[in-house]
Amino acid sequence: MKFFVDTADVDAIRELADLGMADGVTTNPSLIMKSGRDILEVTREICGIVDGPVSAEVVATEAPAMIEEGKKLAKIAPNIAIKVPLTWDGLKACKALSGEGHMVNVTLCFSAAQAILAAKAGASFVSPFLGRLDDINLDGLQLIADIRAIYDNYGFKTEILAASIRSVNHVTEAAKIGADVATCPPQVLKAMAAHPLTDKGLATFMADWEKTGQKIL
Ligand code: E4P
Repeated sequence: MKFFVDTADVDAIRELADLGMADGVTTNPSLIMKSGRDILEVTREICGIVDGPVSAEVVATEAPAMIEEGKKLAKIAPNIAIKVPLTWDGLKACKALSGEGHMVNVTLCFSAAQAILAAKAGASFVSPFLGRLDDINLDGLQLIADIRAIYDNYGFKTEILAASIRSVNHVTEAAKIGADVATCPPQVLKAMAAHPLTDKGLATFMADWEKTGQKIL
């Protein structure tokens, strides 16, 4: 499973990239707003930190303008994945941009039917939003499982990018189902290292080591 980092915070991206934990990055208009930075400038900096796909989202709502914005974003760096929303116009933009050889991430996917359309429009990635489905008492993980089954039935090459991840459990369950990528906020990736039995075991080892009076260095 590939990990993308779901943030426009360059310090967090750099720390995870140095550890080999950032196979790519996803941003969206809300994350750009949170960063307080210019979209072109911050996205260019992120593309210099990670080699893998960096999703940058269009904000137009009609296909011709989405395509124009997508082409402008793609000029930032060769590893840009143009992010378009899963609307009819977004699918038109996906078809046009992917036809010109650009990576396209079709975002805001909330149903298997939508995911089929994204694959048929040539998306490199489809982003089902787990957390936002769970927020309204629907089953985000079931959606990932349904898309996995459908894509495997027909050999669709579009990668399933599990998005809107809120917990460590979301990551491990999406991995068990076979999502190709999980895009995680930095704090979720870091929380994956934590386990209370690790902390308890380490405390015991440290206390026993203290009693030996020895030193390694
Ligand atoms: C990623 O591509 C999405 O924009 C992101 O995961 C959305 O997450 P949220 O639902 O926590 O805002």
